[in-house]
Amino acid sequence: MNQKAMYKLSYGLFVLTSAAGSRESGCIINTAGQVTSEPNRISIAVNKANFTHDLVKESGRFNLSILSESASFDTFKHFGFQSGRETDKFAGYGACRRSANGLYYVMDGTNAFLSASVEQTVDLGTHTLFIAGVDDMELLADAPSATYAYYQSHIKPAPPKPSAPAGKTVWRCRVCGYIYEGEELPEDFICPLCKHPASDFEKVTV
Ligand SMILES: Cc1cc2nc3c(=O)[nH]c(=O)nc-3n(C[C@H](O)[C@H](O)[C@H](O)COP(=O)(O)O)c2cc1C
Repeated sequence: MNQKAMYKLSYGLFVLTSAAGSRESGCIINTAGQVTSEPNRISIAVNKANFTHDLVKESGRFNLSILSESASFDTFKHFGFQSGRETDKFAGYGACRRSANGLYYVMDGTNAFLSASVEQTVDLGTHTLFIAGVDDMELLADAPSATYAYYQSHIKPAPPKPSAPAGKTVWRCRVCGYIYEGEELPEDFICPLCKHPASDFEKVTV
């Protein structure tokens, strides 16, 4: 079995936003897709460690802003490399508006947004799968939607040079480029930058 076959799956990229009471947040996800068309339903898989996960679970409502090829790395850093538990991601963030459901959607580097209400949840251990009906949607721009592959090759900057001497083997996060210097990567390692697990690291020789 070659685990790399999983990397051949193609994904879009999204800013998932939600709110419960006065708490609001948003995070980057790649795990969204349409599951039925009559009516329009989508699914999202969200890591339980994400603050946005708790807000979706509690409120049963979310917006999904679809990232386009014009998205900047700053948008990924803003929503994907820090948690709403520590930072209010919307304080001073101008590139957002509220949709009819009262939730924010993101206008910077996006081409559309969907508003949805959760109908079913499936506990997947590390993640919750939310299946939701689409209540509203709008187009925002013409730019093509960004795929995960496009993010890797065009949006994410080249990884920083590791301090390890040339020829040494290190582990590099495929999502954000973070370098772990060590022969073996602990199985429960979580990327300190983008919070992705050990399975998203690849062994590279620098
Ligand atoms: C390119 C990229 C893709 C990501 N994909 C997902 C994903 O599919 N599911 C998920 O739960 N988190 C994903 N994340 C991680 C979250 O966006 C990140 O942990 C975020 O800081 C959580 O913010 P929150 O705690 O405010 O919800 C991704 C991050 C990046 C940069």
